Amino acid sequence: MFIAANWKMNLDKRLILEFSNNLNDFKFSNQVEACIFPPMTYVDYLNQLVSKLPISVGGQNCHYKNFGAFTGEVSPKFLQDTGCEYVIVGHSERRTFNNENNNEIKLRAQSAVDTNLKVILCVGENLSDRKNGHASEFVEKQLLECLPNNFENSLIAYEPIWSIGTGRIPNYYEINEMHENIKKIILQTINKEIKVLYGGSVNLANINNILDIPNVDGVLVGGASLKAKDFLAIYTAAVKHLQKNHIT
Ligand code: 13P
Repeated sequence: MFIAANWKMNLDKRLILEFSNNLNDFKFSNQVEACIFPPMTYVDYLNQLVSKLPISVGGQNCHYKNFGAFTGEVSPKFLQDTGCEYVIVGHSERRTFNNENNNEIKLRAQSAVDTNLKVILCVGENLSDRKNGHASEFVEKQLLECLPNNFENSLIAYEPIWSIGTGRIPNYYEINEMHENIKKIILQTINKEIKVLYGGSVNLANINNILDIPNVDGVLVGGASLKAKDFLAIYTAAVKHLQKNHIT
C-alpha cells in the first residue's frame, strides 16, 4: 500500500517545519509506504527533516536531460543527488499548463528511470472523454505513448482530470475497471505487476471506500495532504485497511 502526498505549489518553509514536527511521534507501519512531493525548492529541506522517519521524498517533475542549458528545469540527477527516491512525471497540471505531451513525458520518465528514480507516471481522462465512453481508450493511449523502458520499479497514478480538486470522483466500478485495464496493459507491455494509485479529490470522507476498491494499491493525494493531521489520518486508514483484510 502506497500513500503519496503531492503538495503542488503549497507550503513554505515555516509550514513544512510545522508539518514535520507533527510526524515525529507518529507510529509508522512497515506495511504502508509514504512519499511526500514538496515544492522543488524544499526537497532538500524536507528530506533533512524526515531523515529519521520512514518517509520518502520525491520531485514533482523532472527534465529529460541530466545537465545542460535548460533554465528553470529540474535535473533527475540532481533530485537523486538530493536524496529523492521518487519523481512524479506527466501530472495533468504539467500537461495542461506546461504543454507536456506524451512524447516529452516519455523522455522525462525515461531519464528518471535511467537515473534510478522510481517514477509515478500520471494518466487520466478529461470529463468529455469520460462522458463519451472513451476514458479507457484515452488512458491506454497515454500509457502506451508514455511508458519508458525498465519501468519495473515504478508506479502508475490514475488521476481523472475532472476529479482533481473538484470533490468529484469516479464511482467504485469506474475506478476498479480503469485500474484493472491499466494493470492488464502494463502486464502485457513489461510482463510485471506494478502498483496503481488513485488520485483526485481523495479525502478523509472517501479514503476508506477508495481503499476498498480491489485494484487500488494506494492513493496520490493533493489538497488533503497539506495538513499533517489529515495526511496521517489517510495513512492510518491505509494501515487499518490492511489489518481489516489481513494483508501483510
Ligand atoms: P487533489 O487531491 O487536490 O484533488 O489533487 C489530486 C492530485 O492532483 C494529486 O497529484
